[in-house]
Amino acid sequence: VQIRYTNSAADLTPEQLSGFFEGWPNLPSPETHLRLLQNSDYVWLAIDEETDRVVGFITAISDGVLSAYIPLLEVLPLFRGHGIGKQLTRRMLETLHGFYMVDLICDTELQLFYEKLNMQKTTGMSLRNYARQSGS
Ligand SMILES: CC(C)(COP(=O)(O)OP(=O)(O)OC[C@H]1O[C@@H](n2cnc3c(N)ncnc32)[C@H](O)[C@@H]1OP(=O)(O)O)[C@@H](O)C(=O)NCCC(=O)NCCS
Repeated sequence: VQIRYTNSAADLTPEQLSGFFEGWPNLPSPETHLRLLQNSDYVWLAIDEETDRVVGFITAISDGVLSAYIPLLEVLPLFRGHGIGKQLTRRMLETLHGFYMVDLICDTELQLFYEKLNMQKTTGMSLRNYARQSGS
């Protein structure tokens, strides 16, 4: 499979976005997905050259001075295990290399994935409003 990477969602359409948010009970629509990609400060997309569909994405939001946060990373199930998630994360960390702090939250099973990309384990706090999981 030939994958193209891009750091712009400007020309994307909702039709190129389906199958994401696996396991989310109240998942965002493709239109809402597109909106969050276009509203993020930074984005990297993996696109299947053959179908022109997005098969993986990572987003970051930032204060533009010291800090950046990575809210979302996902690769479509059929495309996992081929280095796409690593490539997206590596490209995003390179994009964010000038910031003092780059943070994300993940399950413990994924800590090794991020450690291989030079990130360190930390502790944190979070709040989730499940009524807003599909976007407002
Ligand atoms: C996590 C995710 C993005 C990984 O994408 P991927 O394209 O399959 O990952 P890669 O093929 O680039 O894997 C890179 C490395 O991480 C490892 N890895 C991948 N997924 C892993 C997982 N769920 N747990 C532990 N290790 C994992 C791979 O074995 C590989 O190791 P290697 O470099 O030593 O061979 C993908 O599984 C996914 O979308 N999961 C659901 C959403 C999610 O959990 N997102 C993260 C939110 S914090």
